[in-house]
Formats: sequence, structure tokens, C-alpha cells
Amino acid sequence: MASSSLVLATLFLATFIATSNANFNNDFTITWGDGRGKILGDGDDLTLSLDKASGSGFQSKNEYLFGKINMQLKLVLGNSAGTVTAYYLSSMGTTHDEIDFEFLGNVSGQPYTLHTNVFAQGKGNREKQFHLWFDPTKDFHTYSILWNPQRIVFSVDGIPIREHKNMESQGIPFPKNQPMRIYSSLWNADDWATQGGRVKTDWTQTPFTASYRKFNADACVWASGSSSCGSGSSPSSTSDWLTEELDSTSMERMKWVQKNYMVYNYCADVQRFPEGLPTECSVSS
Ligand SMILES: *[C@@H]1O[C@H](CO)[C@@H](O)[C@H](O)[C@H]1NC(C)=O
Repeated sequence: MASSSLVLATLFLATFIATSNANFNNDFTITWGDGRGKILGDGDDLTLSLDKASGSGFQSKNEYLFGKINMQLKLVLGNSAGTVTAYYLSSMGTTHDEIDFEFLGNVSGQPYTLHTNVFAQGKGNREKQFHLWFDPTKDFHTYSILWNPQRIVFSVDGIPIREHKNMESQGIPFPKNQPMRIYSSLWNADDWATQGGRVKTDWTQTPFTASYRKFNADACVWASGSSSCGSGSSPSSTSDWLTEELDSTSMERMKWVQKNYMVYNYCADVQRFPEGLPTECSVSS
């Protein structure tokens, strides 16, 4: 408790506008794919593509230590079986922290699977997977990560689908000391991604394309060993996100998603954990 209040106090001391208007040219770099990743127009849009020779990817220029990060994505249309669009935060090194969204493609007419995971100090194994209540290939939808010292909340179009709480008081590591970058990539994973690897990528459909827009981050930017927190593109926003928690309406919505759209939950997989479910499963949602 004392250490987390100290972290908060330090963060609040810094006043700095972290990220302003979404512009992919300012905030991101295409890191691989030999021209398959593109920033379009004035930096408003970004696309990644995948063909038989290669996928592609980008990463944020900034490293962040906590943030409320929104991105709109439109996923690979049609037969996307075998493809994975990963959108995540990660720190570096073997004991890294990571907060993951991965979109696993499917044959036409069958649902994408949205895979989520949280790694703390190199250890993940906290998978929860969902189907979506809309077709994520038809339009852009907003995928958000709230990461503050108390919790990580994954949301889709403003509806929380998963909350991972800080339970350090019970000896469970929580990502809060390692700054992370935002990464995204589109790649071929037909050895496992779709229907357990049974359905392979149909290369006659290439190139596969995923599109991004409207990146926005209220975040603490990490630079030269210290963190500057500020508000994002809406001028009136505050640092409320640093202490944000789910209200009762949000809790109800999350329950609705988990009841109707969750297709895998590590906390319900008793066969996987014969020695007993991870401790966090008794309190987490
Ligand atoms: C693909 O569709 C099948 C059948 O509806 C479903 O079981 C599976 O979860 C979907 N997603 C993936 C990635 O296989």
C-alpha cells in the first residue's frame, strides 16, 4: 500500500501533456514487413498486411508506465483463418510484463476469437478468450487497455470484458515497474491459431489487411528514467484514469460479456491446474 501511494504521489507531481492528437507519424514506427505496413494520409490511418512471404508490424515511439490507451481496429475480412492480429503492450527482457489482445482469424462466417493475457515478471498463463457481439471485420471498433497501479481493464467499445486486479498484497506480481511500448503485428500462425490449428491459411486470399485509426492515450510517458503523466487529445481530461475503477454499471456489462461471450477462462480450467487454480482466480474477474 505504502509503495503504491508513493508511486501515485510521484506520478501526480509531474504535469506534462503526454500525447496530443492521434497521428501515427508522431506516435508510431513501422518496424518490419518490408513495405507491408503503411501509414496513410496525414498520419490518420495505418494498415498492416500479410502475404505468404511476410507479415508486418509497428511499435510506439514512446514507452509508457500506466495509461488508458484506445485504438480502433478493423480486422482481416473474409477468410482470415490462420492469421493473428496482435495488439499489445510489452516491456523488454526475460522477466517482462505484457498486456495482450490477440485476434485469431477464422474461416468466413465463423467468429474471430479475441484472446487476452497478462504477463507479470515473465509469467503469463492467464488466458481469457472471447467471441465478439459484432463482426469485427465490417467496421472499426475501439479496443482499450486501462492500466493503472490498481488494475488492468480490457474493454471493447467501452464495455469492459476483463479486469485483472493488483493482488501484490497476496504475493502475486503485478506489472507496475517496467515501462512498456505498444506493439501490433499481423502474421501467420496457422499451426495453432484457428480451430486449434486444424484450419490453415488460404494464401489465394492475400494480401490480408488490418486497419488502425484513432489512437489515443492518456498515459504516463517514460523517458530518461522518469515518468510524465498527462492527458490525451481531449483538453478537459484529467488524470482520473490513474485511480479509475469499474462502477456497478460497468461490472454488470462485464458480467454480461463473460456470461455470453467468454469461450475460455484459465480460472475455470481445473484440468490445466491439477494442483489447484492460481490464487488470483479466487478474487479476480
Ligand atoms: C472459429 O470458429 C469455431 C466454430 O464456430 C469456433 O469454435 C472458434 O472459437 C472460432 N475461432 C477460432 C480462432 O478458431
